[in-house]
Amino acid sequence: MRRPPRTAIFPVGGLGTRFLPATKAMPKEMLPVVDKPLIQYAVEEARASGIEEFIFVTGRGKSSIEDHFDHGAELTEVLSARGKETELRASRDMMLEPGQVAYIRQQDPLGLGHAVWCARRLIRDEAVAVLLADDLIMAKEPCLKQMMDAYRVAGGNMAAVMDVPRAETNRYGILDVVGEEGKLAAAKGLVEKPAPEDAPSTLSIIGRYILDPLVFTELDRQEAGAGGEIQLTDAIARTIGRVPFHGFRFDGRRFDCGSKAGFLEANIAFALDRDDLAQAMTDIVRRYAKALPPGKDAAS
Ligand code: G1P
Repeated sequence: MRRPPRTAIFPVGGLGTRFLPATKAMPKEMLPVVDKPLIQYAVEEARASGIEEFIFVTGRGKSSIEDHFDHGAELTEVLSARGKETELRASRDMMLEPGQVAYIRQQDPLGLGHAVWCARRLIRDEAVAVLLADDLIMAKEPCLKQMMDAYRVAGGNMAAVMDVPRAETNRYGILDVVGEEGKLAAAKGLVEKPAPEDAPSTLSIIGRYILDPLVFTELDRQEAGAGGEIQLTDAIARTIGRVPFHGFRFDGRRFDCGSKAGFLEANIAFALDRDDLAQAMTDIVRRYAKALPPGKDAAS
């Protein structure tokens, strides 16, 4: 039995250019789905999966993420004075304990692999988790928790995976699958963002990883890959043969909150999932659906 990770890395240094102007002065990870920032969903998922140490790899202009997980002294005072117990509890519950969280800067945006590598001095010689906040996953059991249970048996490197339309393989890390057993897909290779005609499959990496320490040795090489960036996918791929790699087909719905349509859909889905908003959102969706011209799919 392998010991699942205690530490999680959250790469949050990206510029978020796809969401300009919203992200000009605000980190994209702070964009709210309903009333909670994307990064908080990721942190809550990690916490609910048993993670005890949280490392944020940040960049310039990202300080509101640090403030978000810190005390809000003025806010606490106002909420107490007004007797707003529920809000007070919510803001207290989301705080991470002193010493449980570390922030480190990625000084240059050199890629996801580089961001993860920036955390190398803060981790031990054991498995770590990586969560990308813009992959938002709605699931009964947190996606990372599902992976941890599978990891206890399978070990090695693991990433959450799902099938995507072939036309979209150039947006993901793609598995070269050798065999499937239950929810695990063993791979003999990984390719970052291949063109649809070159993709070895349509099984794609979604932003949840459990990494063997060997990946950091590979990241030390600082080799640029697809798009001229240091890719996490490449570093993991280079360990195959020494460490097994499995894609994990998780149970749950993933929303690509790195795209506008995915982000908007997440807002609708999470509102529909909330007792206090389900009715209002149902009415809204019905009203708009009725107004759509016949034959037009709401997703188009
Ligand atoms: C990153 C990874 C890619 C993965 C994707 C999941 O790409 O490089 O392998 O499939 O996250 O969202 P990005 O979306 O940062 O370009």
